[in-house]
Amino acid sequence: MQNFEFYNPTRIVFGPNKIAELNRLVPQNAKVLILFGGASAEKNGTLAEVRTALSQHEVQEFGGIEPNPTYETLMKAVELIRSEKLDFLLAVGGGSVIDGTKFIAAAVNFVGEPWDILTTHGAVVKHAIPFGTVLTLPATGSEMNEGAVITRQATLTKLAFMSEHVFPQFSILDPTKTYTLPKRQVANGVVDAYVHIMEQYLTYPVDGRVQDRFAESLLLTLIEIGPKVLAQPEDYDLRANLMWVATLALNGLIGAGVPQDWATHMIGHELTAAYDIDHARTLAIVLPSMLSIRRTEKRDKLLQYAERVWQITSGSDDERIDQAIAKTRAFFESLEVPTRLSAYTLGQDAVHHVVKQLESNGMVKLGEKKNVTLDVSQRVLEASL
Ligand code: NZQ
Ligand code: ZN
Repeated sequence: MQNFEFYNPTRIVFGPNKIAELNRLVPQNAKVLILFGGASAEKNGTLAEVRTALSQHEVQEFGGIEPNPTYETLMKAVELIRSEKLDFLLAVGGGSVIDGTKFIAAAVNFVGEPWDILTTHGAVVKHAIPFGTVLTLPATGSEMNEGAVITRQATLTKLAFMSEHVFPQFSILDPTKTYTLPKRQVANGVVDAYVHIMEQYLTYPVDGRVQDRFAESLLLTLIEIGPKVLAQPEDYDLRANLMWVATLALNGLIGAGVPQDWATHMIGHELTAAYDIDHARTLAIVLPSMLSIRRTEKRDKLLQYAERVWQITSGSDDERIDQAIAKTRAFFESLEVPTRLSAYTLGQDAVHHVVKQLESNGMVKLGEKKNVTLDVSQRVLEASL
């Protein structure tokens, strides 16, 4: 096992009716800004519950944070917070609202150009104002991690930053708040969580036994509940399981002490920036080809994955690997998440464009061995046509 330091200070408050706990969780004397996305949190009553719970607090609101949150919109919230001297943020929504809130929290007291937070991937962040979240979409894990992904509209640049200063203080996970999600977003959530696990699991063996078995149990749970959670939108236990799996998939635990890949995500971010494809959908396009093209360096883990996750035990090494990748692709497709660029009418031009973008964003040595060069990324994308 590799050396590691694990730190995660986020308090999770899980279950129905837990939004009422905001009164206790948000400091009494805080000047609060509630942040949300489009209409969903208002429509499904989540915001009403939040307002009731904070009725004894001083509260303002900022709506309109878009999916794949933009720097341009977020800077408007930064101005509001500065001018009104607000000191506590509450994100109500999915990964986009939570990521946006993380950036805002870091940008408010940042001296200099806040976009540097992204170009340095968080290295310049020395403090952030405190915030909590109410999660409405299980997918990204942002509710219990220190990462955020922000898009600059002007240049169509989508970059990630990480900083221990942007862990949420608390996150409320009420599975009933996910009942109103459109099927497409639920499927996105299953796929995003699945690929988060794969990015930390499917590398090379370092004898991280508990990390491997923990990752495999999360993958098996997603395979088991994926189709059901789409078919039965108001089944509490299914939604509760999806919510907790998605959080555990990216809260640092399964990635501690093991190599991590993330090449699929970096290429996926470029596809979203250029063609506005939902985050999870970009991952479904890239991951199967990524595993296939890099099968030599990932051989041991691919065989372990085939056996322990898909129960594939017969055939040559390459046959078992092919079957495991085919099963992965079929799982995504069964959730109605396409796994080919052609599903978005994208072809060779898109491959060239994405490779250029990777180059200009410095994404030229990706993966757990830093050997995913532009040439490898190009082959992966071509295999996804
Ligand atoms: O804007 P509203 O009206 O709220 O609608 C949202 C949005 O249109 C809707 N929605 C959310 N909760 C709902 C709901 N609709 C009905 N009922 C509910 N309960 O869902 C749509 C998508 O929301 P969004 O927050 O964009 O989705 P998601 O949670 O998948 O977040 C995606 C973003 O997270 C980033 C992605 O790059 C992308 O920008 N990621 C963040 C990560 C992190 N912080 O660790 C890791 C991920 O790999 C990912 O990159
Ligand atoms: Zn993701």
